[in-house]
Amino acid sequence: MDNSEIKNDLVNRYQQLINISCELNSELDLNILLSKIVSAAADVSDAEEASILMYDPIKEELYFQAATNIDTQLKRGMKVPIEKSIAGWIVEHKEPVIVEDPQSDRRHFDHVGEITNIEVHSLLGIPLITKREIIGVLEVINKKDGEFTKEDEKVLLGLGGQASVAIENSRLFQQSDLIEEFVHELRTPLSALSAATHLLKNKRVDEEQKHRMIEILDEEIDALTDMSTSFLDLARLETGRKQYNVQNFNFSELLFECHGIMESEAQELGIAFKLALPEDLPVIRGDRGKLKQAIINLLNNAIKYNKEEGVITLSCKATEAELVITISDTGLGIPNKDTSRIFEKFYRVPEHREKIPGTGLGLSVVKQIINGHGGRIDVESELGVGTTFTIYLPHQ
Ligand SMILES: Nc1ncnc2c1ncn2[C@@H]1O[C@H](COP(=O)(O)OP(=O)(O)O)[C@@H](O)[C@H]1O
Ligand SMILES: [Mg+2]
Repeated sequence: MDNSEIKNDLVNRYQQLINISCELNSELDLNILLSKIVSAAADVSDAEEASILMYDPIKEELYFQAATNIDTQLKRGMKVPIEKSIAGWIVEHKEPVIVEDPQSDRRHFDHVGEITNIEVHSLLGIPLITKREIIGVLEVINKKDGEFTKEDEKVLLGLGGQASVAIENSRLFQQSDLIEEFVHELRTPLSALSAATHLLKNKRVDEEQKHRMIEILDEEIDALTDMSTSFLDLARLETGRKQYNVQNFNFSELLFECHGIMESEAQELGIAFKLALPEDLPVIRGDRGKLKQAIINLLNNAIKYNKEEGVITLSCKATEAELVITISDTGLGIPNKDTSRIFEKFYRVPEHREKIPGTGLGLSVVKQIINGHGGRIDVESELGVGTTFTIYLPHQ
């Protein structure tokens, strides 16, 4: 390339950057945004692959969040050691780095190789920074033609700057939406609390009424606590701040554990709880704690919306690619008009709202967790007869 060609090439690359940055700024879904960023990063730096690692400043952990050309759902959340990785070095120094021979670099941790099954020959990584805070690392791997240059670094830094702003925007956008709904939902329990305390102050209220008021206070405080916990879970999952602790584990054991936890609660209410498992199930790769939380949430509902002498059945079978988990109950059922809405945040079947306490957040958390594992969840229900939730989860 002569000088004018190099200049042209540069102008083209910067033009490309401007186009990309417009596109990034109009994307508010974090996961879609991240996948757009990695493919743009590979494009502008002429690299084979690109990946993003997000940094959690509270836990001081770095975890894998997106990459080109692979199914990231399952790999998402994989932790990368700060002290033993190039990405960790970038977090600590807040500086870009070009590594010609990653294998012999003592900072190298072959997470990219492990995740993408490709051999890493060369690597360029930059910090993603907003308001002087590091939020993650963007890495491009294996220049298609030659080595990564300082020019590639400059272009990637340009993209990284735009990408960081877009990531922060999408997080803020999702949170502001969620916070607005949350505050709205707080009003009901708060007004119950306020009515009860108001009555308690009244000297003419007798002991029995006082006792009843205190019970209401207790219940509403529990409701607020539940709502805050579920809300925090959901906010972390939705904004991608919650990382998955991925491991291989035995799914039968997990289901046994869930059965053990919920059995006595079901029994106390006169509900039979059956567990139907095949001899052996394939190994699952995922966040055990989160998947347990999802199953427990569904079992909680199966108990809560059941009838006396009701039955709950938890079963699981494996197809070639998936585990199929069903949670069935013989309870109240869900009216047809509501089945498509129950996974929405704060949505509760109106007929249940008055009689049964709840937050309307449980199923949203479940759905986030299952989708985060590359799975899906369905519901079938007949009013007055019962409900079945089915989870499809890819296995190894
Ligand atoms: N097993 C079930 N049987 C009947 N209705 C259910 C069942 N599970 C969920 N629902 C309905 O879906 C709504 C949303 O569920 P969820 O998000 O867990 O919130 P919550 O249980 O706190 O109300 C519930 O309020 C209820 O109306
Ligand atoms: Mg629930």
